[in-house]
Amino acid sequence: MKRVLSGIRANSDLTLGNYLGAIKPWVAAQPVDDGTPQETEYFFFVPNLHSLMGRLDPAALRANTLSNVAWYVAAGLDPDRVTMYVQSQVPAHSELAWIFNNYVTMGELNRQTQYKDKVRKGGAEGQLVAMFTYPTLMAADILLYDADEVPVGEDQRQHVELARDIAERFNNLYGPTFKLPKATLPEAGARIMNLQDPETKMSKSDDDASGNIMLTDDSETIRRKIKRAVTDSGSEVKAGKDKPALTNLLEIFSAIKGRAVSEIEAEYKGANYGKFKDDLAEAVVEHIEPIQKRHAELMSDERRLMAILEDGRQQASAIASEKLTQVKQILGIL
Ligand code: ADP
Ligand code: TRP
Repeated sequence: MKRVLSGIRANSDLTLGNYLGAIKPWVAAQPVDDGTPQETEYFFFVPNLHSLMGRLDPAALRANTLSNVAWYVAAGLDPDRVTMYVQSQVPAHSELAWIFNNYVTMGELNRQTQYKDKVRKGGAEGQLVAMFTYPTLMAADILLYDADEVPVGEDQRQHVELARDIAERFNNLYGPTFKLPKATLPEAGARIMNLQDPETKMSKSDDDASGNIMLTDDSETIRRKIKRAVTDSGSEVKAGKDKPALTNLLEIFSAIKGRAVSEIEAEYKGANYGKFKDDLAEAVVEHIEPIQKRHAELMSDERRLMAILEDGRQQASAIASEKLTQVKQILGIL
C-alpha cells in the first residue's frame, strides 16, 4: 500500500499559493470513490506544533488549526478516504522528533535554506531553537507513517530530503525501520510568487498581504489585488525569464484552470495586460468562491470538524504508536 502524506502549518490564514501549491494537488491525487479497494492511503494533517514559533495568540492558533482542516475539506478532500488530523493530538510526533535530534547534525540543519534565510536576515543568535530543529519534527511527521510520497511546494523539498537522509541513516545503523520518502512537486503552482514582488514567494507568513491573495479575501479584494499586480515591461502576455510578473500570473491561470501556460499564451496573443488580468481575476474568483462558501459552513459547525479530527486522530495514532514502539525497542528506550 502506497502512502502519501503532507500538511500545512496553522500560523495564519492560507494564501492562494498554499492552495495551488498544496491543497489543490492533494485533492487531485485523492483516489476516486469507485468501490474498488484503495491502493493509496492519504494522510493530511495540520502541523500546529510547527506554528508555535510564531507566538500566536492562543485563540488564533486554535482557530487557524480548525480553519486549515476546513479548507482541506472545503477544497474537496473526503474525510472518508483521507486521514485528517492534528499533529499535537498524536504525541508520537514530538517523541520521535526528540529521538531524531540524535541522528541529525548541526551542519545538516545549518544547511537548510529556510533556516539559512532567517539567519541571513536576522543573524543566528536570536533564532529560536525550534526554528533550527524544525526539520527533525518534520522528519518525524513523515517517517512515523512510512510515507512514500510527500507532496509539497518547492521550498519544502530540502526538508523532505533531510527526512530521507535521517531514515537512511537510521536504517543503516539498525536495519530496515523507515521507508525512504520522496517529495513530489505539482506541475503548475509549485511556486506562486507575490503579486507586488514577483521575485519573492507568496507567503502566509508575510505581514503585508497586498501582494498575497488570501483564501479568505472576498471577491472584490481578489479582483483588486490582481488588477494592481505589477507587470513587466512590454505588453505581451508571455512567460519568460525576463518577465517574472507575467510568468507568475500565467502560472496562476494555468494552475487554476488546469491548462498549459503555452495554451493560455496563445489565447492571449495580441491581447493587452488589462484584458488578461480581468479574465484571470474572474477565473480565480469563480474557482475560490464555492470553496469559501463550504469553508464558512464548516467553520460554523465545529462539532463536525472535531468529529473528523477525532476519527483521524484514532487512525493516525494507531500507525504512529506502532512505529514509535518499534523505534523504542530498537534503541532500548523503556
Ligand atoms: P507559507 O510560506 O505560506 O507560510 P508554508 O511554508 O506553511 O507556507 O507552506 C505550506 C505548503 O504550501 C507547503 O507545501 C508549501 O510548499 C506550499 N506553499 C506555500 N507557499 C507557496 C507558494 N507561494 N506557491 C506554491 N506553494 C506554496
Ligand atoms: N514544513 C511544512 C511547511 O512549512 C509543513 C510540514 C510540517 C510538513 N510537517 C510536514 C509538510 C510533513 C509535509 C510533511 O510547509
